[in-house]
Amino acid sequence: MKKVLIGVILVALASVPLIAADAPDSVTLEAKNGNVTFSHKGHAAMMDCTVCHVADTFKLEFNRDTGHALCLDCHKEKAAGPTRCGDCHKR
Ligand code: HEC
Ligand code: HEC
Ligand code: HEC
Repeated sequence: MKKVLIGVILVALASVPLIAADAPDSVTLEAKNGNVTFSHKGHAAMMDCTVCHVADTFKLEFNRDTGHALCLDCHKEKAAGPTRCGDCHKR
């Protein structure tokens, strides 16, 4: 019984909902070859939060592969938004 209760509490803590009021206007992701800054507000208005936020949590882990697959691929697909290295990565 105790174990079940602890399990329920852990699940509740893990699923913190996304609160739009807490969302930043702009976000900077650090990268060795130049940080990537984008308008969070603009992107949040264009698409569903879950395009970037997994399962209603803030668990976003980007690296070269996942960052490019998410950001760069959409820009290419829509032919909108930066696709050249230096247009995203700014030193
Ligand atoms: C294009 C991708 C993208 C979209 C769409 C998006 N976000 Fe985000 N959001 C991010 C990134 C990247 C961060 C920065 C996370 C970090 O710094 O670890 C962030 C940060 C946040 C934060 C601050 C979290 C923190 O820990 O500082 C909140 C709150 C948030 N987003 C809410 C939302 C909501 C609500 C929506 C939909 C209305 C949304 N986001 C849509 C990519 C996105
Ligand atoms: C589902 C599609 C989609 C995804 C995912 C997406 N973008 Fe975009 N992005 C766009 C579009 C469309 C524009 C052009 C908006 C305009 O011209 O008004 C844009 C514009 C931009 C711009 C220039 C304007 C601004 O917002 O600062 C930057 C920088 C940018 N994106 C970076 C990113 C980064 C970094 C990510 C990943 C965390 C990302 N984008 C994810 C569609 C997307
Ligand atoms: C649409 C924006 C965008 C464009 C265009 C883009 N990148 Fe990225 N890149 C990102 C994002 C987002 C990340 C993940 C950053 C993070 O891990 O926080 C990233 C990560 C990287 C990393 C890993 C950096 C590190 O510190 O681990 C390298 C290297 C990289 N990109 C090189 C390139 C090169 C080379 C090009 C051009 C061919 C390019 N990028 C074009 C958005 C972009």
